[in-house]
Amino acid sequence: MSIFLCGELDAGERQAWLQALRAALPGECIEASLERLISADVDIALVANPPPGSLQGLPALRLVQSLWAGVDRLLADPTLPAGVPLARMVDPAMSAAMAETALWAVLALQRGFFSYARQQAAGQWRALPQRRADELQVVVLGLGEMGCAVAARLAAQGLRVRGWRQGGSRSADRAVPVPVDEGPDALAPLLAGSDIVVNLLPLTPRTKGLFDARTLATMKPGAALVNLARGAHVVEADLLAALASGQLSHAVLDVFQTEPLPPGHPFWAHPQVTVLPHAAAQTDPRSAAAVVAANVRALRAGQPLAHLVDRRRGY
Ligand code: NAP
Ligand code: GLV
Repeated sequence: MSIFLCGELDAGERQAWLQALRAALPGECIEASLERLISADVDIALVANPPPGSLQGLPALRLVQSLWAGVDRLLADPTLPAGVPLARMVDPAMSAAMAETALWAVLALQRGFFSYARQQAAGQWRALPQRRADELQVVVLGLGEMGCAVAARLAAQGLRVRGWRQGGSRSADRAVPVPVDEGPDALAPLLAGSDIVVNLLPLTPRTKGLFDARTLATMKPGAALVNLARGAHVVEADLLAALASGQLSHAVLDVFQTEPLPPGHPFWAHPQVTVLPHAAAQTDPRSAAAVVAANVRALRAGQPLAHLVDRRRGY
């Protein structure tokens, strides 16, 4: 049997993955081109956001292992083979990277560092009031692998942190490092009391467009949004309106409706928007190959697979 690596990878990334995967799985046949494989022998697909239709014509497929944490694009592909287990990437190194990004964004918002960058561009020398960490309430939306790592890091920094999740049996066993609220009714009061909102939800039919004019209006006046999850969580025109009216003071955005963010998009030059190129937490083959290898070995040994996606829930 053999393993097919496919998706949005440039030549360098493909090479790095092949090298790391072959080192982690000696004896496995792993290729990044179907021309180098016999399609009927492919039983595992390792996918990095592949174009729709990439997994058609693989009759022996028994595992789709995503190299990305978020599987929204995969699940939106109607040709994704039904009934084949889908596992997503869960790598502590990736969660640590996400915690670093969130800490940077929240610290910069707390201490006014984005304002100082604007002032520097204008040649302006003016110290702003110095806010203490414990003066700020932060809410982390989504308390999964990423959200928990972020919440723990922010709480350790001395910020007042709460978290929000869906709730139910899937999350009941997870130890969460901050006070938790659950379900749709808990959201508005949490947003109304928070100075900074960090979004780490998966993109599902329930969370798509969550940050529209209505939700943004429930946020604390002058609050900031840090979106590190998916662009489609935010209605971009509504966010621009909320920034213009002063309802929101700043947005740190790593993800966008269209990526790469198109030239001329209002976010690029907006003084109250900080843009990152979808780089909050990249999958690193140096650590993630071991995560993949563990699931490949589990499949070969008939053991339970880790980090399976619940297709019904969409994450
Ligand atoms: P995860 O472990 O599956 O956690 C998802 C969390 O969201 C869970 O706590 C879940 O609640 C909660 N949730 C889901 N639907 C909800 C809803 N309708 N209402 C309230 N809470 C809801 O996912 P993860 O590994 O932390 O990753 C989260 C997302 O981060 C990914 O899907 C991806 O989009 C994004 N991401 C971005 C980057 C980047 O570089 N920008 C990198 C990696 C990941 P329960 O616990 O109750 O189930
Ligand atoms: C990145 O956005 C991921 O989902 O891994």
